[in-house]
Amino acid sequence: MQTLNVGLAERSYPIFIGSGLLSDSELLLPHLTAKRAMIVSNTTVAPLYLEQLRTSLENCGVRYDSVILPDGEKFKNTASMDTIYDALLRSHCERTTTLIALGGGVIGDMVGFAAATFLRGVPFVQIPTTLLAQVDSSVGGKTGINHPLGKNMIGAFYQPQMVLADIRTLDTLPDRELSAGISEVIKYGLIRDLPFLEWLEQNMERLLARDVEALQYAIARSCQNKAEVVGNDERESGERALLNLGHTFGHAIENGMGYGVWLHGEAVAAGTMMAADLSRRLGWLSEAEVERIRGLFLRAKLPVSGPRMAAEKYHELMGLDKKVAAGKIRFVLLKTLGEAVMTGDVPEAILKETLEACCD
Ligand code: NAD
Ligand code: GLY
Repeated sequence: MQTLNVGLAERSYPIFIGSGLLSDSELLLPHLTAKRAMIVSNTTVAPLYLEQLRTSLENCGVRYDSVILPDGEKFKNTASMDTIYDALLRSHCERTTTLIALGGGVIGDMVGFAAATFLRGVPFVQIPTTLLAQVDSSVGGKTGINHPLGKNMIGAFYQPQMVLADIRTLDTLPDRELSAGISEVIKYGLIRDLPFLEWLEQNMERLLARDVEALQYAIARSCQNKAEVVGNDERESGERALLNLGHTFGHAIENGMGYGVWLHGEAVAAGTMMAADLSRRLGWLSEAEVERIRGLFLRAKLPVSGPRMAAEKYHELMGLDKKVAAGKIRFVLLKTLGEAVMTGDVPEAILKETLEACCD
């Protein structure tokens, strides 16, 4: 098992990464404020892993209730939040009750938001069960839900007490979801860790084959990168925005196609190729570098172009991005491989060229 730390003064917390951790009650107990918990999961993950978690909690004398939500990005909404609040109130949960998110990023984001808002804030624990959630969404305290008009538009920064990433849960993850998680792993290499990008180029097939050592390395290195960025800029006043490489285009794709049609990681991969194309048109990336990125996404079995939508539609959807400032869309682009920048200075004509060149 590896232990990393997200360094945020009094809000610091550990990330545990290893195989079989779900059954290790000794890990959980010290991070529960009281011996009372509410587990939140979904109809796919609960039948696979709820029993193991229940046994762990029982072994250390924790009283728990559980609430099981429908599965899917399209349920990341106010109706699901109400279901969580209903369960918390009906079970008479208190300020010391810990919410436990057992699932992928959709569950993690919603449970974090419920924890931030129920009784004005209760503790929560992240138990991410997708690769995407283990390398990205469970770390850093971004929580929230979608709005019909925009992705992740309602939410709060609210840090968990701990993150417990059990690599063994990835055994049951569908291949398409594994690839979607690899998309966010590649992101860290592209924005700030060129040696990791090179490692990914050498080890992509091991990741796709779910080689445990390769997965452990990629998850830990991704979490290390994320922890450093979050430790420097928790509330995204600067550096943290770079973690959104590909997301301005990606969120437009997810919303434009209907939540859940494109997986988040797939939309981020296509969005990253659009950001790379834009970076090349601005004279930053070379053609060869763009091809190198494309090659890696293709090997990870991810899409490298967006769906055809009118340029105006992309524009309208991107105008709802959280990075918009003074009415201007701002993009995270690549100066070179391993170095990202954010800019609002993209000439309209060049953006249009990218939208036309990068959509099927
Ligand atoms: P997800 O939560 O929808 O999970 C993907 C699918 O895999 C679901 O059907 C889920 O039920 C299933 N699943 C989960 N674990 C499984 C397992 N072990 N075995 C079999 N099936 C399993 O999607 P995701 O990719 O984990 O997360 C995407 C979400 O995360 C998006 O809503 C995105 O906006 C959000 N996100 C948030 C952050 C953040 O910083 N908070 C960062 C990145 C993404
Ligand atoms: N996934 C982007 C962030 O956590 O900031």
